[in-house]
Amino acid sequence: MPTQPDASQFNGDLPNYKNCPKLIVGQKALVTGANSGIGRAVAIGLARAGADVIVNYVTNEPAAREVVAAIEGEGAKGLAIKADVSREAEVQGMFEQALAAFGTIDILVPNAGLQRDAALTEMSLEQWNTVIGINLTGQFLCIREAVKEFLRRGVRKDVSVAAGKIICMSSVHEVIPWAGHVNYATSKGGIQMMMKSLAQELAPHRIRVNAIGPGAIRTPINTDAWTTPEAYADLMKLVPYRRIGEPEDIAQVAVFLASDMADYISGVTLFVDGGMTCYPGFATGG
Ligand code: BGC
Repeated sequence: MPTQPDASQFNGDLPNYKNCPKLIVGQKALVTGANSGIGRAVAIGLARAGADVIVNYVTNEPAAREVVAAIEGEGAKGLAIKADVSREAEVQGMFEQALAAFGTIDILVPNAGLQRDAALTEMSLEQWNTVIGINLTGQFLCIREAVKEFLRRGVRKDVSVAAGKIICMSSVHEVIPWAGHVNYATSKGGIQMMMKSLAQELAPHRIRVNAIGPGAIRTPINTDAWTTPEAYADLMKLVPYRRIGEPEDIAQVAVFLASDMADYISGVTLFVDGGMTCYPGFATGG
């Protein structure tokens, strides 16, 4: 049995994220929660691959504007739109604005999500409802509006062979139970079944619905897990690939799933987790 390599051996080597093929030229995308973390990287990554991108945010408008500037720096169009994805009227208003500005939309990445962690008996109904409302209902509301536009418009042959692409931001916690985070894990488990049911329902219309299941990614949602050497070393016990993920690791996969390279993929969650879903505890036991 080889000994487990030490985390520090692997931390430096990252792919060249800027070396991204222009796989989605001329397409229009909307990314929710795009002012920070994974959403921000996905919005910029889609622009780098050739799409114009709507940057949804709910707080911190300057950060959203900074993402729009980065999108423009990639030679694409960007537009920041404020909307709370858990509110139906705000989502509908956002899509009206997006369609008025961009004419149509080809790619939706419902990404906005948060954690409100607590042990079960400490968890308030508000903490439960906030997480389910944004992470799960928020995705439903955005997908519904995007799909209405995909169905109205059909395939835009000049840009893609599909009528629309949905890429739900899920988590490894759609399959890995997470004590102390029942609201969050439930929301992600719900996303998995929503995504699969909609993939089945919408495939005859040539609409592809998939998800990305990120593992531990270096973003503001989980700073406790990576800002101290002790926490990082603990985290690495859960990551066979022995490095934390970068937001750009997710962005590259979003570009692939949005592109016609992935045209025969629908109804799957692609885990981007350095092997976190490979039961790392069994590397030495069992
Ligand atoms: C959570 C992070 C966590 C990661 C791996 C993500 O979905 O938002 O807080 O570090 O899963 O457990």
